[in-house]
Amino acid sequence: MSEMQTDAFWMPFTPNRTFKSAPRIVESAEGIYLTEKGGRQVIDATAGLWCSNAGHCRSEIAEAIYQQAKTLDYSSIFNFGHELGFEYSERLIKHTPDGLDHVFFGNSGSEAVESALKIALQYQRVRGKGTRTMFIGREKGYHGVNFGGISVGGIAPNYQGFGQPVKASHMRHTLDIGRNAFSRGLPEHGVELAEDLERLVAFHGADQIAAVIVEPFAGAGGVVLPPKGYLQRLREICDKHDLLLIFDEVISGWGRTGSAFAATEFGVTPDMITSAKGITNATVPLSAVFVSDEIYKTVMTAAPEGAVEFFHGYTYSAHPVACAAGMATLDIYEREGLLTRAAGEIGQYWENALHSLADLDNVIDVRNYGLVGAIELRAPQDLKGKYGAKVSGMAWEAGVMARGIGDALCMSPPLIIEKHEIDTIVDKLRGLISALV
Ligand SMILES: Cc1ncc(COP(=O)(O)O)c(C=O)c1O
Repeated sequence: MSEMQTDAFWMPFTPNRTFKSAPRIVESAEGIYLTEKGGRQVIDATAGLWCSNAGHCRSEIAEAIYQQAKTLDYSSIFNFGHELGFEYSERLIKHTPDGLDHVFFGNSGSEAVESALKIALQYQRVRGKGTRTMFIGREKGYHGVNFGGISVGGIAPNYQGFGQPVKASHMRHTLDIGRNAFSRGLPEHGVELAEDLERLVAFHGADQIAAVIVEPFAGAGGVVLPPKGYLQRLREICDKHDLLLIFDEVISGWGRTGSAFAATEFGVTPDMITSAKGITNATVPLSAVFVSDEIYKTVMTAAPEGAVEFFHGYTYSAHPVACAAGMATLDIYEREGLLTRAAGEIGQYWENALHSLADLDNVIDVRNYGLVGAIELRAPQDLKGKYGAKVSGMAWEAGVMARGIGDALCMSPPLIIEKHEIDTIVDKLRGLISALV
């Protein structure tokens, strides 16, 4: 076989030159395993990028994609429709919190975020509150890479090179290893951080703010869980000032926490939820914004009869092949009980297994919820803030795909994972972390 040419492909969120000097190429995948070129198997402890929730290469989804591509591969979704889009929407909202009964489709998490922000602006405008044009996000928040998403997001390098094209202000993040190290589930300390929202409202004025957007737990920021009572308090403050609350559940949705959505798991209902990734088990790009009745009806009734109510949409909104993949994914989630599996014995096993690493000198925090978790490492002085990436590379060599974020190894395995596979991950990590100097 000829030598692979690597120059043409500009890889996303990757140090291209480093990668291309020693490419790590994945050739196939099945269940929770990836197979590298050359045949070596690696456990996918991150479910790809937090998205292959039902495990890789499920033949039922592949078959649905194939059949759909042969039947109706595509048809315009502006002014025309296909039944699958309506049927799929009805099925999706059976899993969303009560009252979030309308679906707007996009193709990626980033597009779901942009759509939600625009829906918020449209809603405020049509109800006569057009001065409400800014957003409140949170440090360490990740909301994709489009201009709205980088503005409300709180991961500095993602917007520092591009400015802040949409006006946004940020609450502090809730990671507090000093007080909450080795928390099992939601941390005890930090509910008072929600009062940051009061501070920002007092500073900017409620009449400037369209919506607050947070991930129920921050994923790409390093698995940062909400302190007990924190999300409830955000909801109260939003209600008090008539602000919309958006939960970005691109990662936390579809069973990661032990419920279909973290909103349900944590008992807080936002006005919109953004969703992507696990929605199709990552097989075909598709995203959705789940929208409250109040927002939907307000926007619908504000426009004159016959007019487009919302000037927004994508060529591939509700793409038939993506909808078919999504339907087959729901079949699996429902039949195999995957959306609540993390709340049961396997989630408890995951928690105990991760926390068994707490005795290692180099581990300064372990945090977890459902089937997600992070191991925070004591970084050498010269690698502080980037140690995770280095150790993640070593974990890959040891046979585990774990994501390096800051100084942490973050994991979100496919929801089908079994106990012995968790043991293998933790054994490999124990060997690796104990050998770190
Ligand atoms: C919470 C959250 N929102 C949005 C996104 C963006 O999704 P995408 O990469 O599909 O645009 C991500 C991606 O990781 C995410 O974690």
